[in-house]
Amino acid sequence: MERFKDKNILVTGSTSGIGQACAERFAKEGANIILNGRHFADDEKQLIKTIEAYGNKVKFVQGDVSKGMDSVGILQQAIDAFGSLDILVNNAGVERNANFWEVTEEDYDLVMHTNLKGVFFGTQTFVKYCRKENRPGVVINMSSVHEEIIFPHFSAYCASKGGLKMLMRNLATELAPLNIRINNVAPGAIATPINQKMMADKDKMKGLLENIPMKRMGTPEEVAGLVAFLASDDASYVTGSTYFIDGGLTYHYEEQ
Ligand code: NAI
Repeated sequence: MERFKDKNILVTGSTSGIGQACAERFAKEGANIILNGRHFADDEKQLIKTIEAYGNKVKFVQGDVSKGMDSVGILQQAIDAFGSLDILVNNAGVERNANFWEVTEEDYDLVMHTNLKGVFFGTQTFVKYCRKENRPGVVINMSSVHEEIIFPHFSAYCASKGGLKMLMRNLATELAPLNIRINNVAPGAIATPINQKMMADKDKMKGLLENIPMKRMGTPEEVAGLVAFLASDDASYVTGSTYFIDGGLTYHYEEQ
């Protein structure tokens, strides 16, 4: 299947976890990939080789999406990389665990700036480009089930993903006349480095799995499959919605 042949796609935060799986899935389906991460070292060089093996073009754009102007620069470099940009996946994200009354301004800023501000100004740069060139576009935000359900002790994270829900809904209406589609993907518990600590804690894992009707974590590849669908022309009439991928977690009901 070559749904993305000749398409140029930027995935932010694509050096691990869900972002990396999305980059690989798009490459497998024929796309040229613009990778992004804050650092460029041996792991990133290896990742470039892995993606190149699918036979398409790859470029790594180094940059920190949490810095407003960096996210603009990342988008500009991504557009320049292969001369055009078709699809933006706003994937980079961080979380910090603390009681609400102990959250520092530094951690609040890190989470909000990475998960929301970076998406805001990165997407704005992409939209300005699409308008100027009169091109269609697709945007996918990696949100979370926590744009909808609570996550005690992760207040900044929930605020950022809740903000992402309304940003996406607002933009869907504003950007539809420009032929730009935008949707959120909301994963539940996915086995990636962000969950490393929890996955090493047997008791926490037991509690988590009890809450998931499918009784397992998801894989980054499963999330990438949904992202690929939403980015493709198979989803040409889809905009303004959140797609949960959570093994049933969000709306489950405990049978007594
Ligand atoms: P991860 O920690 O493996 O990946 C996050 C990626 O973002 C990393 O490559 C990291 O280097 C990059 N990143 C972080 N801050 C950045 C910045 N300022 N600039 C550029 N890149 C940056 O974790 P995972 O799970 O793959 O997370 C990806 C997205 O999925 C995040 O937005 C996260 O909130 C979301 N998510 C993950 C869930 C999970 O259970 N793994 C559940 C719900 C949402």
